[in-house]
Amino acid sequence: MASIALKNVSKSFGRTEVLKSLDTVFGDGEFITLLGPSGCGKTTTLRLIAGFERPSGGEIYVNGNLVCGGNTFVPPEHRGMGMVFQSYAVWPHMNVFDNVAYPLKIMKTPGPEIKDRVEEMLEEMGLSEYEKRMPSELSGGQQQRVALGRALISEPGVLLCDEPLSNLDARLREKMRFEIKEIHEKRGITVVYVTHDLSEAVHMSDRIYVLNEGVVQQVGTPTDIYRHPANDFVKAFTGDVNFLEGVSENGKIRLDTSGSFLDYDGPLTGPVQVAIRPDADYLVF
Ligand SMILES: Nc1ncnc2c1ncn2[C@@H]1O[C@H](COP(=O)(O)OP(=O)(O)OP(=O)(O)O)[C@@H](O)[C@H]1O
Ligand SMILES: [Mg+2]
Repeated sequence: MASIALKNVSKSFGRTEVLKSLDTVFGDGEFITLLGPSGCGKTTTLRLIAGFERPSGGEIYVNGNLVCGGNTFVPPEHRGMGMVFQSYAVWPHMNVFDNVAYPLKIMKTPGPEIKDRVEEMLEEMGLSEYEKRMPSELSGGQQQRVALGRALISEPGVLLCDEPLSNLDARLREKMRFEIKEIHEKRGITVVYVTHDLSEAVHMSDRIYVLNEGVVQQVGTPTDIYRHPANDFVKAFTGDVNFLEGVSENGKIRLDTSGSFLDYDGPLTGPVQVAIRPDADYLVF
């Protein structure tokens, strides 16, 4: 489908550098997640890949072809990408059919072909019976499926998703998670998915990029990231970590709150802090 290469990509808004020299390749057909706290540069990275922003420095390649850098700038509609946003962002004045058909109309696809392809897509998205409904007559999950259908109708090589499930309730989020994963597997499409939800990232991704303040902290499989966090930031961000006070003495740490003991063979004595993860893997500092 499509690989994406970022070569020393940076982005500043005014004097603030929000992305610092991002240098990486997302492989053809990979499911990549950008994970990190609010403001770390996730949306900015997606918008640069999509072509809604220009980088301050560096180059972006799709399938080895330069789409951005030097004097080259390929506009979003010619990058072969579909994008789904956090807010449903479907056209409120168009019914479901017309929303999904929109990219094909822009591409001047013949009417009968549009009809066939949109009907097929609506079927795949479980929306056939809602063809004539307006977005305001749909649930959040249905609207997000319309947005997905519209993003996929032109058969892009890359699907960019910016926290597409965060406005949905927990059950629907779970269901859509599977649906997006299924789309990825069935179509072999390259997905770049933004979230700040660790469980979403762990369940869906081939590889996770943990970002903080515009810098990649760690790249790895979900297991790598969770079991072998590269630094304290990743550790804290990926673990639902509880921070507890305790006292270290005689090869044990007594926790103040519970009075229970943890084995400890490190160098610290006296008052310490302990970071405990749900899998009971703990770190003393
Ligand atoms: N158009 C802009 N002008 C100025 N600053 C911007 C602009 N867009 C983003 N920023 C700043 O860049 C930083 C990164 O923003 P970005 O939207 O990429 O964060 P994010 O990781 O997507 O956060 P969130 O999880 O809240 O969506 C933030 O500090 C933000 O305020
Ligand atoms: Mg964002």
